[in-house]
Amino acid sequence: MPEVGGKVIEVLFSAEEIASRNLALAREIAKRDYHNLLTVSILKGSFIFAADLIRAMHDAGVEPDVEFITVSSYGKNTSSTDVRLLRDIDSEVKDRDVLLIDDILESGKTLKFVRNLMIERGARSVSIAVLLDKKHKRTVDMKADFVAFECPDYFVVGYGMDVAHSFRQLPYVGRVVESD
Ligand code: IMP
Ligand code: MG
Repeated sequence: MPEVGGKVIEVLFSAEEIASRNLALAREIAKRDYHNLLTVSILKGSFIFAADLIRAMHDAGVEPDVEFITVSSYGKNTSSTDVRLLRDIDSEVKDRDVLLIDDILESGKTLKFVRNLMIERGARSVSIAVLLDKKHKRTVDMKADFVAFECPDYFVVGYGMDVAHSFRQLPYVGRVVESD
């Protein structure tokens, strides 16, 4: 198992597995009848997934506009009002098909907040692509249209995702193995 910053990491999804799922998702996305597609990736966690998925979309013949939004979550209850907008997109959303891209769909609060924002602004449709789905952790009614992997019930790191600002740079998804 790789050791990073003095911590042992168990690899859950390798760079190769992720690349192959990204291409499969991109091909599914290409089959949809999207018009004037705008991707909105949710920072920071999605930055590597978004970069790879959007390039895979290019390989699959999809030509989206690319935007980023930054939100932060706080509080432990189930309301999507616990999510705060930190940095907005610049593009017009009205009458466009929007694809939200995020690292993990867990409680669903983050994606519900951003989806509602896009609907309020008059998006023609809002779809969701996530790298990982933690289905058993859902507290609001949210489903992703495109899911690369079902996520086991671990706190995961790498491929954009952090624990206390570390491990975002890993090219794979893993979990820190606790030493005792
Ligand atoms: P939720 O769906 O609003 O509960 O939150 C999902 C967000 O929480 C994701 O976009 C991640 O940024 C973060 N998150 C959830 N689970 C993990 C994890 O296992 N590792 C790193 N970040 C996580
Ligand atoms: Mg996130």
